[in-house]
Parts: sequence; C-alpha cells; structure tokens
Amino acid sequence: MPLTPESMVADWLDHPAGGPLLRGMLAEHDQDAAALNPVRRFPMTRLVELSDGRLSLAELERLAAEANAAGVEAPEPAPPLPEWQERITPGRFTGRTAVVTGAGSGIGRATASRVAREGGRVIAADVVEQRLDELVTALAGHEVVPVRADITSERDVAALVRAADGRVDALANVAGITDSAAPLHEVDDATWQRIFDVNVHGMFRLSRAVLPLMLDARRGSIVNVASEAALRGSTSGTAYTASKHAVVGITRSAAFMYATSGIRVNAVAPGGVATGIEGAMTSEFGRERIRPTLAALPEVAEPEHLAASISFLLSDDAVNINGVVLPSDGGWSVH
Ligand SMILES: NC(=O)c1ccc[n+]([C@@H]2O[C@H](COP(=O)([O-])OP(=O)(O)OC[C@H]3O[C@@H](n4cnc5c(N)ncnc54)[C@H](O)[C@@H]3O)[C@@H](O)[C@H]2O)c1
Repeated sequence: MPLTPESMVADWLDHPAGGPLLRGMLAEHDQDAAALNPVRRFPMTRLVELSDGRLSLAELERLAAEANAAGVEAPEPAPPLPEWQERITPGRFTGRTAVVTGAGSGIGRATASRVAREGGRVIAADVVEQRLDELVTALAGHEVVPVRADITSERDVAALVRAADGRVDALANVAGITDSAAPLHEVDDATWQRIFDVNVHGMFRLSRAVLPLMLDARRGSIVNVASEAALRGSTSGTAYTASKHAVVGITRSAAFMYATSGIRVNAVAPGGVATGIEGAMTSEFGRERIRPTLAALPEVAEPEHLAASISFLLSDDAVNINGVVLPSDGGWSVH
C-alpha cells in the first residue's frame, strides 16, 4: 500500500522508505520517533492539525511522494485494536443543570456535549464566543445555554451563575491553560500569575459562587480537571505543575468539608489529550528534562475519553465517590 497523508503514523514509521524519511524530518526538529509513540494510531494529517504550523500538508505530500517513489514493499500492518465507542446513557442527566467551563473546545466541549446528549441542561462557559456558537449549533435540539465568560473575572463568574437560574446540580471546572515547560528559575511573574489566575483562581471563584446553591439544595457534584502534572513533577513546567497540585488541594479540602452536605467533589487527572490547548513547550531546559517522561506516554486520548470519566464522576453513578483524583491517562501514572 502506498503511503498517503491519511496513512496512520504507525504505517509511516514501519514503512521501509517512509520511516527513515519521517525520522530524518524529526531529527531536523531535534525530535526522535519515540515522540510519536502516543499518536501511532492517528492519521498523519492529524499531526498537521496539532503541530501549530510546524508540519504542513504540502510537506507531508512531498514526503509521501518520495517514500512511494522508492518502490519498496511495505510490511502488512498489524490488525488495529478495536475502536472505543462512546455510549450514551439516556437520561442520566435529565432534570439536572450542569455548568461546564472551557466548553468551547477539547475536554470541556466533549463534556458539555456528553451531558447535554444525556438529557442535562448545560450552562456552557468559554472565553471565546465563536466556539460556543459552534457548540450550540452542533448540539441543536439539546438544552445548551452559552455564556461568554472569562473565569478570571469575578463579574463574569457572577453572570455565569445567574444564567443557571438558581440551580446547579453539577459543575465541571475544565477551563485551563498550560505553561512553556519552564523550570522554576525561568518562570516570570506574569506567567505565574496568568497560570494561577486561569487554572486556580478561576475554578476557586466559580466553585465558591456555586456552592451556596448546592448547600441549599443539599446535593451537588463538582469535578475539577487536574492533570498528570498534579501527580508528579516530571510532565510540565513548575507553574502549571504547582497550579494543578493546587487544584487537587482544593478538591480534597472541599470533598472533606462538604461530605456531610450531600456534595461530592472529585478531580480527573488527564494524561495526553488531543486538543488545541493553549501553550507550547518553548523552554529548552524544561523540554530536555521532561522528554523521558513524555516518551513513556501511552496513546494520546481523545477529548471524548475524558468526557466519559468526567461525566461519570458528575453523575449519580459516582454516588459513593468523593475526594478522589482519578487518573484518566491510559495508565501513564503507573509507569
Ligand atoms: N490536553 C491535554 O493534554 C491535557 C492534559 C492534562 C490536563 N489538561 C487539562 O484539561 C483542561 C482542558 O484542556 P483542553 O486540553 O481541553 O484545552 P482546550 O484549549 O482545547 O480547551 C480549553 C478551553 O478553555 C477556554 N478557556 C481558557 N481560558 C479561559 C478562561 N479564562 N475563561 C473561560 N474559558 C477559558 C478556552 O477558550 C478553550 O476553549 C485544562 O484544565 C487542562 O489543564 C489537558
């Protein structure tokens, strides 16, 4: 089979002519093939989408033409593992109102979509209005209330809670940004402040605003999105790692405090997820240190995989679960 831009990364790597060409291109960018292990089952075109302009379709087509011109026979690919299918639980959120932040993209969008398709009324918050418009269009026929809100703004947080009309059964604090993988000595004040504003202060303020409603109703479920960086020090920069450890601290304290008030508070710690998350690993020092941990990353997950974990914890199915930090990372954390 000839290689095309749509061929899987694994097929490219295992191809006798395409493999060396791809490795050569990676070496030019100071990368090795291990960096592609987590995305072996992705079509190469997906890497164009995720590369932030570093890999173009034209470059990929040129590489494919060069590999195919070599005229060598590619090995028979191994049969693929069965694909995971998202299975909706009809009515799991019927009659419930869920606030989801970061609902315009990635994990937040997949979570908002899952809850809405399972019957919930979703207050979908994001700082980028156009993303919310797209979400509403995609979920036509479901109950989605878009609210353009920056969770770092106290005023926007208040408006978000008002949009819920006095009732919040579930809150998913998903919105977040990453850092540049910078080690402590490279972190400037503005970066530290911005990472904490979005990842910590935002979810803290929104939770503080929502909790009185849950306390009055004597029921509620909060899920905070942490990260692998909340479990160890070797996956991200110091600012992001510290912010996600803070998310775990808030989760545990709140889980303890409200355990007798009918409110559960849990966290999900994603590993690698294919989203357009803001932030690139521009710190050379950090990149070099983190590289071995990233090389052990299992396959990168889809946002829907994370939505499955988050919606479970948000739902009554997680009735007896409070205060956990659930790694949803394909087992990365047991390495
Ligand atoms: N993608 C990953 O590999 C990964 C891994 C571990 C943890 N996470 C965490 O998952 C969460 C979601 O990330 P994602 O990968 O889906 O990213 P994403 O960029 O695809 O989505 C995040 C959304 O949050 C919104 N947002 C950012 N700042 C905001 C603000 N101040 N107010 C309101 N909305 C804001 C963005 O506009 C965006 O639509 C984050 O907390 C992130 O730290 C992601």
